[in-house]
Amino acid sequence: MSKNALVTGVTGQDGAYLVKLLLEKGYNVYGLLARRGSDSTWRLRELGVEGEVTMIDGDLTDVTSLIRAMAVSRADEVYNLGAQSFVGTSWTQPVLTAQVSGVGAINVLESIRIVNDKARFYQASTSEMFGLIQADRQDESTPFYPRSPYGVAKLMAHWATVNYRESFNLHASSGILFNHESPLRGPEFVTRKVTQAVARIKKGLQKELRLGNIDAKRDWGFAGDYVRAMWMMLQADKPDDYVIATGVTTTVRQMCELAFRHAGLNYEDYVKIDPAFFRPAEVDVLLGNPAKAKAALGWEPSTSLEELISMMVDADLRRL
Ligand code: NAP
Ligand code: GDD
Repeated sequence: MSKNALVTGVTGQDGAYLVKLLLEKGYNVYGLLARRGSDSTWRLRELGVEGEVTMIDGDLTDVTSLIRAMAVSRADEVYNLGAQSFVGTSWTQPVLTAQVSGVGAINVLESIRIVNDKARFYQASTSEMFGLIQADRQDESTPFYPRSPYGVAKLMAHWATVNYRESFNLHASSGILFNHESPLRGPEFVTRKVTQAVARIKKGLQKELRLGNIDAKRDWGFAGDYVRAMWMMLQADKPDDYVIATGVTTTVRQMCELAFRHAGLNYEDYVKIDPAFFRPAEVDVLLGNPAKAKAALGWEPSTSLEELISMMVDADLRRL
């Protein structure tokens, strides 16, 4: 019998790749669709899976809609990917961020307890929780020190996941995912902002690119690889927490260089520093150690940053 999965954040970058993976594995896939004024399903359409997901109206801040979604989907596995996920916005909308990205996870956990406490749960935790890093390479034992309202909200959701596992014996796992990108990345995040600008500059539609702190370093991987890790966590006999990363860190500056070079351009001719894009508190460097995920789940990334950025520039050029 095929399994049922419920995905929150189904219209996001990871939601789209996860839906595709679950469909390939024979799942019946249900998505929690938050009401928006405009169409939010373009990513599912790009991957050709829009018609294959059963959408259920709901919002992470409304626990009654989550209880209903659990009942309607009869989910065996629940992937909580929904969030206000843009770090920059979390300083201007800290309460919303706490409600959606923090309390929202507790709402999902409660709906699981009420409707079916045998359902397995995945929480989309984040390397942003490491913030002001307490170890050069961050792993599951590195202390957290969030640096943004988003990081604080996600830390609450992370500990709630651990707590529900320990208190109620839920099969609840948390993936501490480092930055992961793709052609479906939202245009506000730095990689996509850069690849979109490269394509527009190449086509003569834009003259410069304004960025903030280009000395920040991130451990960037490909979203398609990372959703595989989410699924693997829920297939394990025991729930646990796992760092998912590439183990390579790169500056925003170097990432720009790669993107512009792929289009035959020099980033120094176009990138301008704009204080408007600096953050009130920065996460200067992230570098993950995914050894546990490799040993326990057999998970490994398969895409280099150069391949990832080339894929994104090519997709943005095609879209124009
Ligand atoms: P994303 O593209 O920003 O997607 C976020 C999703 O959450 C969207 O589907 C959005 O719906 C939905 N959402 C927002 N507010 C909601 C609400 N109140 N109720 C229900 N759904 C709501 O994020 P992503 O990159 O796919 O990331 C997936 C998850 O992983 C997020 O939780 C993120 O914080 C976390 N994460 C991401 C990364 C990364 O590098 N990508 C790394 C670590 C952790 P709309 O489309 O309708 O707005
Ligand atoms: N967005 C953006 N725009 N970032 C810039 C810019 C700019 O113009 N200029 C420099 N940066 C720097 C940011 O200051 C940050 O240090 C880095 O680029 C990456 O920024 P984002 O791409 O916005 O990602 P993030 O690291 O803040 O957050 C992403 O990764 C987290 C995991 O570590 C998001 O996907 C989060 O949801 C996720 O949890």
